[in-house]
Amino acid sequence: MSEIAELKIGDKTYELPTEVGSEKELAINVGKLRAQSGAITIDPGFKNTGSTRSAITFLDGEQGILRHRGYSIEELAEKSSFLEVSYLLIFGELPTATQLEEFQSEIADHMLVHEDIKKILDGFPASAHPMGVLSSLVTSQTAFYPESLDPNRSSKEVMLSIIRIIAKMPTFAAWAYKNEIGQPVIYPDSNLDYCSNFLKMMFARPGMNYEVDPVVAKALDTLLILHADHEQNCSTSTVRIVGSSQASLYASLSAGINALWGPLHGGANQAVIEMLEAIKEDGGDTDKYLAKAKDKNDPFRLMGFGHRVYKNFDPRARIIKKAADEVLEKLGVNDPVLEIAKGLEEKALNDEYFVQRSLYPNVDFYSGIIYRALGIPTEMFTVMFALGRLPGWIAQWKEMRENGEPIGRPRQVYTGATSRSYVDISGR
Ligand code: ACO
Repeated sequence: MSEIAELKIGDKTYELPTEVGSEKELAINVGKLRAQSGAITIDPGFKNTGSTRSAITFLDGEQGILRHRGYSIEELAEKSSFLEVSYLLIFGELPTATQLEEFQSEIADHMLVHEDIKKILDGFPASAHPMGVLSSLVTSQTAFYPESLDPNRSSKEVMLSIIRIIAKMPTFAAWAYKNEIGQPVIYPDSNLDYCSNFLKMMFARPGMNYEVDPVVAKALDTLLILHADHEQNCSTSTVRIVGSSQASLYASLSAGINALWGPLHGGANQAVIEMLEAIKEDGGDTDKYLAKAKDKNDPFRLMGFGHRVYKNFDPRARIIKKAADEVLEKLGVNDPVLEIAKGLEEKALNDEYFVQRSLYPNVDFYSGIIYRALGIPTEMFTVMFALGRLPGWIAQWKEMRENGEPIGRPRQVYTGATSRSYVDISGR
């Protein structure tokens, strides 16, 4: 039996039901509070508001725990592959060898994109940020596959939409880059694994022999796993809320890509490298930048630091920091910004301002350094994040649809003018 929470407003007491998640987290259900009392709850930024019940990802920000469908991110990053984790997120269980093989081969079958995608791409100037191009290409799928517009079609048809987007996303991402640098696009190679195929489309050129470095492909695969899902963050909540209006999967995913773009979310990986570069150019004085970050009159923030839910450490950041060291060593890359990053981290972790506010490096603090070592240009970092987050968004959209969740529609506390009469323009 769940406990009852009591809320006192004035001299009236209201009883509110509670519910407990499978990891014993307690929630007070305020769904009927307004009907009972006329009051709503207010929580800007949803800092303490659960928007859904979800069985996909569990995270405990105080303990630094992240698990997908019960499996720890540490184990998945070490032992699994990105497509295996994608399957786990979307279907709820790890695949058998046959299931994984089928999943991979279906994805391989759908990698090629419609030839007219090149015409859309041609319409973008080279100055287009690849995130904008990516979100447009994802929405454009509603035109090529109009049946995908209806999310209520059979689960088989929904699955086809899902497979298509997982298969085509690396092509869209790599082609967005080719558009930016003015090179002809490279077609997908279904004989290659998911990450190798992407790397080939990014870096091969017509007439050139391009061999994918397995160290690079493996490192990329791990990075994608680390980004695969993160429960109800800004972009995932966007995907769910857009999907709750029964907009199509592709429209919902495209909205998620745009939400991810901002520097306070997925755009932080680009912002981190730009910040580290700026510190390097400025003589490497990390103290100066720490002081700026602490100065409330200065809008500067230490990018890659702090997290809405992790208040102890971000387990993904730990894995990435180790991976950054290993990858740079294996590839023989000596990146001076890695040293600046480590120096900043050490100082911040011992600084009262950061300690008091529980600000730790997040997943994006070191990911940019690895991307750079892999040859990925800075403006593509957030695209890489989107590529990784795709299965999470899909799994969350699918769960929302299957649970028949209502349309997302928060309330507000109105703070504007009260009723007044219209004044004719001559009298204003
Ligand atoms: N540098 C300096 N101060 C910071 C930072 C930072 N990176 N992050 C938070 N703070 C301070 C705030 O100024 C605030 O201080 P105050 O209490 O004195 O006013 C306090 O810490 C709490 O910060 P909030 O902004 O209220 O925390 P919130 O949970 O809303 O924000 C966020 C979390 C957006 C991640 C924030 O820490 C931030 O802007 N970090 C930098 C951007 C970044 O790295 N984003 C990536 C997040 S991970 C991801 O999306 C994958």
